Amino acid sequence: MIETLGVALGDRSYPIHIGSGVLERVELILPHIEQKKVVVVTNTTVAPLYLETLRSALESAGISVQAVVLPDGERFKTWETLNLVFDALLGARCERGTTLVALGGGVIGDMGGFAAACYQRGMPFIQMPTTLLSQVDSSVGGKTAINHPFGKNMIGAFYQPKLVLADISTLNTLPERELKAGLAEVIKYGLIRDLAFYVWLEENLEKLLARDAAALTYAIHRSCANKAELVAADEKETGERALLNLGHTFGHAIETGMGYGEWLHGEAISAGTLIAAELSHRLGWLDENAVKRIERIFVRAGLPVFGPKLGAARYLELMSHDKKVQDGRLRLVLLQEIGKAIVSDQASDAQISAAIEARCT
Ligand code: NAD
Ligand code: GLY
Repeated sequence: MIETLGVALGDRSYPIHIGSGVLERVELILPHIEQKKVVVVTNTTVAPLYLETLRSALESAGISVQAVVLPDGERFKTWETLNLVFDALLGARCERGTTLVALGGGVIGDMGGFAAACYQRGMPFIQMPTTLLSQVDSSVGGKTAINHPFGKNMIGAFYQPKLVLADISTLNTLPERELKAGLAEVIKYGLIRDLAFYVWLEENLEKLLARDAAALTYAIHRSCANKAELVAADEKETGERALLNLGHTFGHAIETGMGYGEWLHGEAISAGTLIAAELSHRLGWLDENAVKRIERIFVRAGLPVFGPKLGAARYLELMSHDKKVQDGRLRLVLLQEIGKAIVSDQASDAQISAAIEARCT
């Protein structure tokens, strides 16, 4: 069974199809392709698993497929790797109307999307996310980027896909550590705006860890529905879309400070969310029981609840590059209660530092 929802952005609206085997359902793809040729951007891990399945589905419908197979890893989310995509697009004589398909996790989706945004000033692209994290978050909403040594996702563009195809059967080959990392972004939706989903997650976490198809489909659908609402209301993040960054200011500092790829994105977000919860407690919003409740769900998901001890000064330095900084002032996503996040610049450097020191070992 396929579940479908949409991202409502006027004439740039697009569907998200979620289900087992959707990668091969060429009839879902054809309406979104302009030419009889596509370029699939993927990596050395995903290509042997899913590229031929996708290629034969598309070729059976008369679509020719060129593949660009990139090195795998967060540390390759760089200009140099992006240039490999441009080399391949030009080498294959791709036109402005050729569709780029990003087949892989969030790294491939973010880089493929950014390449599509830039190539000949914009070519159509399709997201085919193959990790839990990319199915619940990164493939939806049009944020595309590469990293810079000073900070995560610093160079990029808002550029929406034409279609998102989330094939849940691909999650069966996902390493355990990556599955758990994806859960961090799932839990995020419950924490920032969907208390009923948070309670469902508390009751069903083990099913997700066991890759129960029905539970995964429900969690992916509900996550995408939350994200689609926020993106439709605030595509370019001038307001409430920023809530999706709960734990991310601290988490991005962890990823950059430790070296890209050392901590998985979802792991850094987990520890970062606990720092945000601790700070929310110190500001008098979350009570101690709520912080413990949040800690419990991340522990059950097998995720870290303490950050690395980089020192508060180093965290603050790394966080000063955050995209939410306004007029030099850091703004953080904090929790008023479970199910209700806000963006706030109320915390002083001393309060932020104290929360970091308390939650880093
Ligand atoms: P990832 O893309 O690095 O994928 C994780 C690992 O799993 C990689 O080794 C990948 O090759 C492998 N893999 C992918 N699919 C597989 C499968 N089906 N079976 C086996 N292995 C598979 O990591 P991720 O967690 O998917 O994405 C993290 C990235 O997403 C970060 O760069 C983060 O900044 C970005 N992100 C972007 C947004 C956004 O809105 N654009 C949101 C959240 C995260
Ligand atoms: N992952 C945060 C966003 O898409 O806004």
